[in-house]
Amino acid sequence: MLLVDEGTVLAALDILTKEIVHAGGCFAAGGLSTVVTRREARGHGYGRRLVTAAREAMAARQLDLGLFTCDRPLQAFYESAGWRVLPGAVLIGGTPQAPFPSDQPGFDKVTMADFFSLKSRKAQASLRNSRIELYPGEIDKLW
Ligand SMILES: CC(C)(COP(=O)(O)OP(=O)(O)OC[C@H]1O[C@@H](n2cnc3c(N)ncnc32)[C@H](O)[C@@H]1OP(=O)(O)O)[C@@H](O)C(=O)NCCC(=O)NCCS
Repeated sequence: MLLVDEGTVLAALDILTKEIVHAGGCFAAGGLSTVVTRREARGHGYGRRLVTAAREAMAARQLDLGLFTCDRPLQAFYESAGWRVLPGAVLIGGTPQAPFPSDQPGFDKVTMADFFSLKSRKAQASLRNSRIELYPGEIDKLW
């Protein structure tokens, strides 16, 4: 997803999706990756506009939920775009053979989420304070 002004890309991000299984339920999950605003265009609200649009696009694509991690200092940035902290949740990236958890030493990550479907809203409590097996693979190891 790109925010473009007269041919100049101001901000960009990737929406990644996959099915996850948690507490016996299967959910279509989307996540944000490679969120970036052009250096000289930062601080003008472009990033917020794009991550807001990404949340709305995930809901429109009828995903069950949006789920990703970010560095703790960026929590307020994502919250200002409508994302919410999923308290105590850890995403396990990588693969089952080579897990890449968001709480590994040296990382200070928070898990952000939004719940689009009734099914995911019902699962919210079980997703809090849990380790969520995301396993997106070896390329985008962690959302
Ligand atoms: C993070 C990033 C995408 C924000 O883009 P931006 O277009 O400058 O953000 P906005 O102008 O929409 O800022 C919205 C709010 O977030 C805050 N914010 C932005 N970047 C921040 C940062 N790095 N740390 C803490 N707060 C930040 C802004 O201060 C602003 O708050 P305010 O409205 O209270 O002033 C941009 O700084 C960037 O590209 N950083 C490098 C890449 C990166 O870290 N990506 C995130 C990967 S999870």
